Amino acid sequence: MKNILITGGAGFIGSHVVRLFVNKYPDYHIYNLDALTYAGNLENLIDIESKENYTFLHGDITDEVYINTIFTKYQFDSVVHLAAESHVDRSITDPLAFAKTNILGTMILLNAFKVLWKDNWEGKRFYHVSTDEVYGSLGTTGLFEETTSYDPNSPYSASKASSDHFVRAYGETYGLPYVISNCSNNYGQQQFPEKLIPLFINNILNDKALPVYGDGNYTRDWLYVVDHAIAIDLVYHKGLNTETYNIGGFNEWKNIDLVKLLCQQMDQKLGRAAGTSEKLITYVKDRPGHDLRYAIDASKINKELGWSPTVTFEEGLSETIDWYLSNEDWLNNVTSGNYQNYYKAQYK
Ligand code: NAD
Ligand code: TYD
Repeated sequence: MKNILITGGAGFIGSHVVRLFVNKYPDYHIYNLDALTYAGNLENLIDIESKENYTFLHGDITDEVYINTIFTKYQFDSVVHLAAESHVDRSITDPLAFAKTNILGTMILLNAFKVLWKDNWEGKRFYHVSTDEVYGSLGTTGLFEETTSYDPNSPYSASKASSDHFVRAYGETYGLPYVISNCSNNYGQQQFPEKLIPLFINNILNDKALPVYGDGNYTRDWLYVVDHAIAIDLVYHKGLNTETYNIGGFNEWKNIDLVKLLCQQMDQKLGRAAGTSEKLITYVKDRPGHDLRYAIDASKINKELGWSPTVTFEEGLSETIDWYLSNEDWLNNVTSGNYQNYYKAQYK
């Protein structure tokens, strides 16, 4: 029996990772540690919450005393660390919250792991889940490789870059066995409607404007969340210590083209006349420091671990929309209360 700590498991990507590990590995005990911030939602895990190999721990990774206590109590053999503040726009408004959770929180976990196992590293692993945004912005050509220099532009990406550096530093200095992956933009079921795709689905459902930043010619590489969870499983089990693996969808879209595709699919599914949702597109003030383009070279994880995306963008987007359409209660619950204040402040 292995004891695995997954942090941030009530969030978007974390819930898919927890589900996969709990169902696929009955011999592992999965401890899901989450502070249940606005982005954490235990409804995401109702289907597995009563499994015997699953325990939820309600706590904050920046609470050093609490973290040390649970490491001593549960003797985690490995950590899959996803807990983070994750939205770029929020990092522009409140950068210190990002430094606290993403940098200090990661350090507290690293330290607890080091203190627990000292030099006894056999069979132990700290897996840090990171983002391609640490590499900064590409021009119109080129791809992020594992060797691309770090050049973060937002407080979010700077905090993730810093946490990546601390993970490496614990490896170099203390011999802590680690692996890191840097993934492109995810989309799929249960993503909080502050990120582009679920925000726009929710706005189309409510006949609200679709706020496209700047000229809409920014490019992202989109990956279906379930394919990211499958990649995390592979990296966790087969990735080599001290290595980084880039994960991406081989799937670049300009924001405006993606939004138009989303509008077309929504019109069809809602039985609305073609062109109805596109009329909601509204160009708004740009995001400060907006990165022009992200695109991942995922050939290393493809060649070394045999991973590639299994779901096409059209299929994944269609499934994602279907999920939101049949889970309007979920959407209504997470968009009541504080979400309204966030929305007003962000979009004035
Ligand atoms: P999310 O915002 O949906 O979920 C984050 C989770 O972390 C939430 O459940 C939240 O409650 C929890 N959390 C936040 N602060 C915490 C704290 N102090 N202590 C304990 N728990 C806390 O994020 P996500 O989109 O699922 O991203 C998960 C990870 O993957 C992050 O590390 C992010 O940087 C990385 N990532 C995300 C993407 C993406 O497109 N969303 C892409 C690449 C990498
Ligand atoms: P987002 O989903 O916030 O992810 P990230 O900033 O981490 O890439 O945004 C994806 C792209 O969509 C990004 O270029 C910003 C843009 N965007 C808008 O144009 N309008 C919006 O309301 C949001 C949230 C994002």
